[in-house]
Amino acid sequence: MGKLDGKTAIITGSARGIGKAFAARYIEEGAKVAIADINIEAATATANELGSSAIPVYIDVTSQESIEAAVSEVVDQLGGIDILINNAALFTAAPIVEIDKSDYESVFAVNVGGTLFTLQAVAKHMIDRGQGGKIINMASQAGRRGESLVSVYCASKAAIISLTQSAGLNLIPHKINVNAISPGVVDGEHWEGVDAFFAKWEGLKPGEKKRQVGEGVPYGRMGTADDLTGMAVFLASSDSDYVVAQTYNVDGGQWMS
Ligand SMILES: NC(=O)c1ccc[n+]([C@@H]2O[C@H](COP(=O)([O-])OP(=O)(O)OC[C@H]3O[C@@H](n4cnc5c(N)ncnc54)[C@H](O)[C@@H]3O)[C@@H](O)[C@H]2O)c1
Repeated sequence: MGKLDGKTAIITGSARGIGKAFAARYIEEGAKVAIADINIEAATATANELGSSAIPVYIDVTSQESIEAAVSEVVDQLGGIDILINNAALFTAAPIVEIDKSDYESVFAVNVGGTLFTLQAVAKHMIDRGQGGKIINMASQAGRRGESLVSVYCASKAAIISLTQSAGLNLIPHKINVNAISPGVVDGEHWEGVDAFFAKWEGLKPGEKKRQVGEGVPYGRMGTADDLTGMAVFLASSDSDYVVAQTYNVDGGQWMS
């Protein structure tokens, strides 16, 4: 028996990386999963790879219309939504005096607005359905404190921690648990982009920042997407019914709170 037998989930940004690992693990635990991503070609390839319990769904989390269309499509195809993971995000880095306003706007539109309004649309569905639900937001160690070159992304992830607290309190009367996972540094395609930002602003060789951060993790290495899946299953299962508005560090010992 899987821990998520008979459950349905929508995971934003799950065409690749951490979201894809969550989808694979949820399917192993018995769930059906909507691979919801702005990159529909990659989402379709991922859904095909994961088999008949996965469906690809187009979503642009910056568009209310797209969020609503994706939620209705998932409800029609899977019969309802028990679990949402707000996982889609963008990263950016620059010194304060170099921050570009459009860069700030796109990061906040995806990371903060995307999380809030996808959560809102799915919560409305869960409330109407009357069966409760589980909502998991992806925060980051970057949301726990500022970083010299990462102000915009850090602020967006601090906002996720705060939104998780408010939404968690607001929705628990409907038996909807809202919690968050705060990863540290997780290897994958995303980190190729992060490394490139540091190469640019700190004059490091490609791969150097990644090596440095991996060595700095108390556990002794960067995380992998699979390191996070146990927490994602816990927060989606009935084991976490009494867990409300929390953000859990899953980061190899990077941050304590
Ligand atoms: N990788 C890390 O080191 C790390 C650390 C801490 C937190 N996180 C968080 O974990 C989550 C997943 O990270 P990842 O490394 O797998 O990222 P990733 O960049 O590999 O994947 C992000 C996915 O989001 C999708 N996406 C981007 N914009 C979108 C939009 N407007 N609408 C829908 N989908 C969109 C992309 O197509 C992509 O598939 C993110 O919230 C990230 O901030 C990652």
